[in-house]
Amino acid sequence: MVIVLFLFISSLTAISHGLDETPSFPNYFLFGTASSSYQYEGAYLSDGKGMSNWDVFTHKPGSIDDGSNGDVAVDQYHRYLEDIDLMKAIKVNSYRFSISWARILPAEGRFGEVNLAGINYYNKLINALLLKGIQPFVTLFHFDIPQELEDRYGAWLSPQSQEDFKFFADICFKYLGDRVKYWVTFNEPNYIVPLAYRIGIFPPCRCSSKFGDCNEGDSEKEPFVAAHNMILSHAAVVDMYRNKYQTEQGGKIGIVLHCDWFEPLSNSTEDKLATERAQSFNIKWILDPILFGKYPKEMEMILGTILPKFSSNDKAKLRRGLDFIGINHYASYYVRDCISTVCESGQGVTRTEGLYQQTSLKNGVPIGELTPCDWLNVYPQGMKKILIYLKDRYNNTPMFITENGYGNLNDPDLTEEEYLNDFKRIEYMSGHLDNLMAAIREGADVRGYFAWSLLDNFEWKFGFSLRFGLHHVDFATLKKTPKSSASWYKHFIEKYTTES
Ligand code: NOJ
Repeated sequence: MVIVLFLFISSLTAISHGLDETPSFPNYFLFGTASSSYQYEGAYLSDGKGMSNWDVFTHKPGSIDDGSNGDVAVDQYHRYLEDIDLMKAIKVNSYRFSISWARILPAEGRFGEVNLAGINYYNKLINALLLKGIQPFVTLFHFDIPQELEDRYGAWLSPQSQEDFKFFADICFKYLGDRVKYWVTFNEPNYIVPLAYRIGIFPPCRCSSKFGDCNEGDSEKEPFVAAHNMILSHAAVVDMYRNKYQTEQGGKIGIVLHCDWFEPLSNSTEDKLATERAQSFNIKWILDPILFGKYPKEMEMILGTILPKFSSNDKAKLRRGLDFIGINHYASYYVRDCISTVCESGQGVTRTEGLYQQTSLKNGVPIGELTPCDWLNVYPQGMKKILIYLKDRYNNTPMFITENGYGNLNDPDLTEEEYLNDFKRIEYMSGHLDNLMAAIREGADVRGYFAWSLLDNFEWKFGFSLRFGLHHVDFATLKKTPKSSASWYKHFIEKYTTES
């Protein structure tokens, strides 16, 4: 069995990466796995941690599909050494994780005391990683914030969030920045904001028409206000990092976006324009202000006064830019124009704010293999296309694939053995890495790839019902077992990494 598996894995590597091709990864390339505090840490009230928005949300009955929460998650807070051993075993040289703001500033999000026990946890984690030759790649915001900020002033809806985020970031740089060489300000602001403020299914669950459990909000306006505050928070933190820490600490700072690839549904000019509009309401929404100092013109034209404005002071801060773009790439969609066409529900997901609809199907044929998870499809070419698109638009700013991965449903009928033979995940990663290499060969400055994720973990709304891990986790016992994809990734890394 072991021999058969080894032959299978070797042949997959050989076939899909062409043994005679020159390896395309530069020697500084980071191969890693990614995670986030709420999805991994557990220990939700240990050692003085305060309540986060996700603690409060998941404890409300009905919030999460399978009724679960992240109180324990994969208990990385207590088991980080075990997890680092798993990383070491698959030969990754970097680990992406996020810092729980409520663990660092539990009392009031900003004005309370720094919780040194929280700092101590991240110190231990970082030191243990470095001891094993694994670079920490650290995110400051990955969806969880102190609930206090929400209760006191509505968090991202208020400009006060900019000062508070800067205060939190300052503490992280001060205590941890001597050893962290890669910082991310925000993870996927472009993805979270519509879920939290338009359709209201992520905390603070705000939307216009009161349906389900969503709180009364303004779906038209609030997503853009929240994103505006996040963009300015990013700018404030980068400005502070450059002035106060970067020269001494020598790290890099960037932002991570959810980056789907979009193709026009037809050759019509309308669908082509709608496709560009889709990128405006996703990636360019956040990156254009940071790199060009203004929102994309399609957004200004459609949204008018709904879109907040940048003052000259804001623009000065925005000029501090970023050092890299983090790309979370999972799926690709066709885009249909909804200005000249009536977009009916049932044809795909309609994004009314951008006047387009996205769908996986063209005349009933999927863009790539569909998966049991409704938002994930397998179109590996999307990886190369999005990288080239970003390279061309943003002057080949250094890029990291900060997440890419395959999720399958937690199916009680599957045996553990069936979970472990995750050939679909291997196929997915192999195809995407192939396309990543092709993009590098075409000149894209890509500096790392992080698989989502090292372990099965708490997948937000889906709870534990969706599994993305290279390792299977039995959530009753927290026993972790490598899946076939873990050894496949290890072989891939070995093949393309020369030990120095
Ligand atoms: C992106 C998010 O950053 C991460 O938290 C999530 O688990 C993965 N996508 C998979 O959905």
